[in-house]
Amino acid sequence: MTRTTRALIFGAGGQVARDLIPMLVERGMQPILADRLPPEETEGGRALSLYAEARNLPDWRSWWRVLDGMDEPGVRDLIEEIEPDVTYHLAALLSARCEENAGLCWRVNMTLFTNVLEALRSLASGDRRPKMIWPSSIAAFGPLPSSSHHYDAQNEYPRLPTTMYGVTKVASETLGTYYAEKHGVDFRSVRLPGLLNDAEPGGGSSDYANQMYFDAVGGHEPRPCFVGPEARIPFMYMQDAVRALIELAASEESKLTRRVYNIKAFSAPSAEEIEHSIARQVPGFEVRYEPDQRQDYVDSWPDDFDDRPALHDWGWQPEVNSMDQLTRRLLEDLRAKRSDLSLDPSPAA
Ligand code: SER
Repeated sequence: MTRTTRALIFGAGGQVARDLIPMLVERGMQPILADRLPPEETEGGRALSLYAEARNLPDWRSWWRVLDGMDEPGVRDLIEEIEPDVTYHLAALLSARCEENAGLCWRVNMTLFTNVLEALRSLASGDRRPKMIWPSSIAAFGPLPSSSHHYDAQNEYPRLPTTMYGVTKVASETLGTYYAEKHGVDFRSVRLPGLLNDAEPGGGSSDYANQMYFDAVGGHEPRPCFVGPEARIPFMYMQDAVRALIELAASEESKLTRRVYNIKAFSAPSAEEIEHSIARQVPGFEVRYEPDQRQDYVDSWPDDFDDRPALHDWGWQPEVNSMDQLTRRLLEDLRAKRSDLSLDPSPAA
C-alpha cells in the first residue's frame, strides 16, 4: 500500500499557509504543520480551524506542532520523525520589517532557511533527494543600474536588491541551488509577486493593496495607503500562488531547467488602478495616499516579470488573470470571512 504523501509546512500560521493547507488536504495529502505559535494565536491556524470544522476533520489539531524554526535540533528531529515527501518552508520576516532591523532580518530569515535545508540534507542519500519548496520574491530583484524599476525582469536577470529582505532572498536562492547541485536536496522555488488573500499580512511592503481590500469590506476606519497612487508592482491571487508551489513540487525534476522560476498573473496595476478596480465593485470606495519609506522598497522592484521558463518547464498558468477578476474574488472571500466570524458585512466606508 502506498502511504499518503506527507507535506511538512514551516510557517503554518502565516498568510501563505492559510491557502496552501486546504489545497493540500483537497489533493489528498497529509499536512504536518509547524509554527512557533499555537494555531489559535495565528491567522492561518484560526482559518484552518474553521475549514476543518466545515469539512468535519476533527483530527486537524494533531497535525500542528508548536516549534520555532530557529531551534535547529527541533527542526532536525521533526524532519527525521516525519520523513516528509515534500517540505514547504514559508516562515520569514517580510520586507518592511526587515528594513527596520537588517541584522535581525539576516539572522531570522537565513537561520530558518538553513535549519530546514541542513535537516533535509541529512536525509539525502543516493536517489533519495528530499524535496524543499520555498517562496522567493520579486524582491530578489532591484533597480537595474541603467534603468528604473520599469523593466520586465527576465528569469535570469541580475539580482541586485536594495532591500535587506531581497538580500536574504538572493542568498537563499543561491544556497538552495547549491544544495541541489552538491548535497542532494531537491530545492525548488518561485519568485512571487505581491500576494492577496483574506489573511491580514504583516510587515510587507506590498501590504498596501491587502489593506485596501480589507478596508473596502468595512468594519474599521480605512487606513491611508502608504505608497503613492503611481506605485506599481505585480500582484497575484494567493490561491494561484499556492497552486504554483504545489504544481512545481509535483513536476518531474528532470524537466526543470533551473531551481528558481519567476511567476506572474497579469500586468502590474498601479495603486490607483487597484483603488479604481475596487471602486467599480464597491461604489464610493476612495483611498487617501500618504506615502512613507515603504514606497522606496516597492519602487526598487521591477514592475513586470517574464515567466516563460515556468510556463515551458512545468506548465505554469494563473487562473485569476485580470485585476477585476482578482478584486471580485477577494471581496467575496473577505465578505465570507466576515460572515464566518459573525461580523456584520457592510459596504465600504
Ligand atoms: N510581499 C512581500 C513584501 O512586501 C514581497 O515579497 O515584503
